[in-house]
Amino acid sequence: MRFAGRRIVVGVTGSIAAYKAPLLVRELVREGADVRVVVSPTATHFVAPGALRTFAPTVLELFPAEFPGTWHIEWARWAEAMLIAPCSAATLGKLAAGIPDTAPMLVACALPATTPLVLAPAMDSEMWEHPATVGAVAQLRRRGVWIVPPAYGELASGSVGVGRLPELESILGTLEAALLLGVQQPLHRWDGLRVLVTAGPTRERLDPVRFLSNFSSGRMGYALAEAARDRGAEVVLVSGPTALPQPPGVEFVRVESAREMAAAVLERADTADVLCMVAAVVDFAPRSSSPTKLHKSGQGTMLLELETTPDILATVAQRRRPGQLLVGFALETDSEWGSAQRKLHEKGCDLVVLNSLRWGAAGFESRFNTIAVLSRQGYVRMFPPRSKRVCAEWILQCVQELRSPDAGSGGQAR
Ligand SMILES: Cc1cc2nc3c(=O)[nH]c(=O)nc-3n(C[C@H](O)[C@H](O)[C@H](O)COP(=O)(O)O)c2cc1C
Repeated sequence: MRFAGRRIVVGVTGSIAAYKAPLLVRELVREGADVRVVVSPTATHFVAPGALRTFAPTVLELFPAEFPGTWHIEWARWAEAMLIAPCSAATLGKLAAGIPDTAPMLVACALPATTPLVLAPAMDSEMWEHPATVGAVAQLRRRGVWIVPPAYGELASGSVGVGRLPELESILGTLEAALLLGVQQPLHRWDGLRVLVTAGPTRERLDPVRFLSNFSSGRMGYALAEAARDRGAEVVLVSGPTALPQPPGVEFVRVESAREMAAAVLERADTADVLCMVAAVVDFAPRSSSPTKLHKSGQGTMLLELETTPDILATVAQRRRPGQLLVGFALETDSEWGSAQRKLHEKGCDLVVLNSLRWGAAGFESRFNTIAVLSRQGYVRMFPPRSKRVCAEWILQCVQELRSPDAGSGGQAR
């Protein structure tokens, strides 16, 4: 359970997306968190308080009869993190100015300086792009507040644009990072850094209805892209076919085959500062793909002629410019350490992240992973099994140390 025993105050404010808040609270409770909820008066137009009370103690007013006295100070001290989801434009502005006029604002304004605050704004695009909102978001980021950017899609007003509440998984990922790293320090921030991540499998077509592929879910690469985004980096995610929602706040490039992935990566690699090659690229593709569906003829065998696909990691390594950092990934089933060392030295990576199907919590479709990081400088770090988002934070900490060796790792392994 990702949040076992963690004490979280969830704020719900006056965005239409407040109707999704009970699902979020339920998910946190299911993942082991000890949750308390604070709701603004406007939010009660969009969500029935009874739905929230079903899962956690819930306060709606500044003077709740069931919690007399300075309950907000007690709740703020109790919390290990506060998450406001959805966070309205009004609450963003009030947080920037410090106006404790609702229950969520009261707790947020009483949070100790060391307690992380995570916001998931949701509003119409016009409100999200309004200079007042843009200014509030910038100010809050400077104060170390974690902000999950809203997603692109259909909005309650009927228009299409940026403003939707991100998927719960995305919000919970940032909350995990906040619990690991605490209030965002300037040391952690990657503002202006360009990060290119590949993710997912590739598909190599046999004919219009069949393909060669692998079991990669894309979760590790998506988690890494979101982790880099949350540090302020400009992230490009080149993804093979996955069932995952597009992460908000990153440039997303969808590809299918290894050849398409190679082209998309090479087009963008030169401008990247950090390259994380997470995708499970299929190594062999059919030499030719039939334009029409192949039919069986009789009961005999069928011979498939395969050719190797482009080695994206090796090509990127050869074209590397000074200062560019390259992280390779190795998923192995045997001879793990030898394969990872070969990838590190023969392909010229700065770091190789190794995981093995033989290690406990690991692998393609799992939400969890067990990783080891091998560095060109000679160290090997083995991490305990954790969610892919936490693994992503550890990998970025290793990258951060390469960028500025004095920076240290920041977070603690919990
Ligand atoms: C129908 C309706 C829908 C609204 N939807 C949103 C929304 O999605 N996001 C937002 O930031 N504000 C939205 N608002 C405006 C807020 O509810 C309003 O600014 C309120 O003061 C927010 O207060 P609070 O942040 O304390 O809850 C909406 C208002 C109305 C009338």
